[in-house]
Amino acid sequence: MTTIRVARPAEYEAIGAMAVRAYTESGSQSAYADYVPALRDAADRAAKAELLVAVDNDEVVGTVTLVRPGTAYTEVAQAGELEFRMLAVAPEAAGNGIGQQLVQAVIDRGRQEGVQRVVLCVREDATLAQRLYRRLGFERLPDRDWYIAQDVRLLAFAMDV
Ligand SMILES: CC(C)(COP(=O)(O)OP(=O)(O)OC[C@H]1O[C@@H](n2cnc3c(N)ncnc32)[C@H](O)[C@@H]1OP(=O)(O)O)[C@@H](O)C(=O)NCCC(=O)NCCS
Repeated sequence: MTTIRVARPAEYEAIGAMAVRAYTESGSQSAYADYVPALRDAADRAAKAELLVAVDNDEVVGTVTLVRPGTAYTEVAQAGELEFRMLAVAPEAAGNGIGQQLVQAVIDRGRQEGVQRVVLCVREDATLAQRLYRRLGFERLPDRDWYIAQDVRLLAFAMDV
């Protein structure tokens, strides 16, 4: 059974390593090369945002970071919104609904905290993740799209909660 909770310091290293594998072993391969140091630094996410982990029999199988508006990790969130970033599932555990469970945990948290909506942005080529977001009820928020590099657009999505 998969449990989702706030990550513990002893797990930060495993979470960082798993996140790097999830992104670099996904379809995009080298597309995420520049992102590797940030993905690996789970301790920084825990310090400056809120780091959640999915564990299965004490094994780290997934992670997501909760981000508030106006903080170090904010990309698209505005007042009254909860953003999530760096969603990752261990490649060997993919396809079992852990990604969906992690996003659902974010939505549940947003509801508990009384935010108006949950927001995120995702690379245009990360189609699997986009399908997951749409399935859960997220809709495009094109006004908040932005370019992380000249030819790499990040698509914004939002869900009213
Ligand atoms: C996107 C990601 C988090 C999804 O995690 P997941 O636990 O595989 O997600 P789920 O199991 O809930 O759903 C994945 C979908 O892929 C399907 N799938 C089946 N086998 C799969 C496999 N071996 N690997 C991946 N997906 C598989 C699932 O059935 C589901 O399909 P559907 O959308 O048609 O229903 C994960 O693939 C990942 O870490 N990707 C790399 C990082 C990334 O892109 N993050 C998001 C950027 S914002």
